[in-house]
Amino acid sequence: MSDLKESLMNTRVEFEEKIKSLTNSKEIEALRVEFFGKKGKLTGVLRGMGQLSPEERPAAGKLVNEVREKMESVFSEYQSKIADLENSHKLKKEVIDVTLPTSYKGAGARHPLNMAINEICDIFLGLGYSIGEGPEVEYDKYNFELLRLPKGHPARDTQDTFYISENILLRTQTSPMQIRIMENQKPPIKVICPGKVYRQDTLDSTHSPVFHQIEGLVVDKGITMGDLVGSLQLFAKKLFGEDTKIRLRPHHFPFTEPSVEVDLTCWSCGGKGCRVCKGEGWIEVLGAGMVHPEVLENCGIDSEEYSGFAFGIGVERTAMGRYGIDDIRLLYENDVRFLKQFK
Ligand code: PHE
Repeated sequence: MSDLKESLMNTRVEFEEKIKSLTNSKEIEALRVEFFGKKGKLTGVLRGMGQLSPEERPAAGKLVNEVREKMESVFSEYQSKIADLENSHKLKKEVIDVTLPTSYKGAGARHPLNMAINEICDIFLGLGYSIGEGPEVEYDKYNFELLRLPKGHPARDTQDTFYISENILLRTQTSPMQIRIMENQKPPIKVICPGKVYRQDTLDSTHSPVFHQIEGLVVDKGITMGDLVGSLQLFAKKLFGEDTKIRLRPHHFPFTEPSVEVDLTCWSCGGKGCRVCKGEGWIEVLGAGMVHPEVLENCGIDSEEYSGFAFGIGVERTAMGRYGIDDIRLLYENDVRFLKQFK
């Protein structure tokens, strides 16, 4: 019995000595295993009780329980103390000083092309149009054939492009969207489709092999050229000011009949003639016309019952006029000194 008592006391003293010097939860856990674990020191002492006589056991049991409870309460006290300590260390380490200067690089700005697209789309949204989008990698069928430009048609020459395969190409215009919309939607149709288009062209101050168009399409009963002219007139005034006039010149597109090219009074001189309009007083901004009956029929729309108009606005041209940009290349070089001016 006295042996048991002694080793119990020794274990307790050792335990209390050791626990005082611990600094983290890993050490605490190791100490737990060392004393309370299956092969732990306290467990070992308790096992020694088996050698006591039956008379000694009750007193020994009482003592053992008291000591174990003490040790356990000391243990859990230290355990939570160390956990608190570790938590506050962690919080201190993770503290963020919100008063430090940041590495703020300045807010970005919209690209002038997107600004122009947004401005133009806003005008047409106000007229009740919805917005459509379609693929830049397009079928020959949609880009040309269903628009009455069969293989070998001479008008294809001015719209040479990159062919992915014999029947798939980078679209040369947003007009294939006319087909895609009409195939999927019955009149009344009133939609604009902005997007990138591609043509074999050499980059200079006014040309780029990749540029943007906004296609417009309206199909309903009784749509006339008068509706087209009225809509474009309104668009021109909204974008460039009340004094802006439009001029229609006869033209030819295989998918519209009649077809026109549309000029706006020069945004720089107002029509008197200047360097920007090369003395003309007018600047060409879009192509348009009445949707060819065959194109309507190609999409399953009865051309006896319905008619429509379509137009294609050149976004670069418009953006350059609207924001006074004199070289198309500036729009693609991503020079922040240029782009910063459009904030
Ligand atoms: N797609 C024509 C072009 O790129 C423009 C256009 C669109 C003409 C719609 C008529 C109707 O030149």
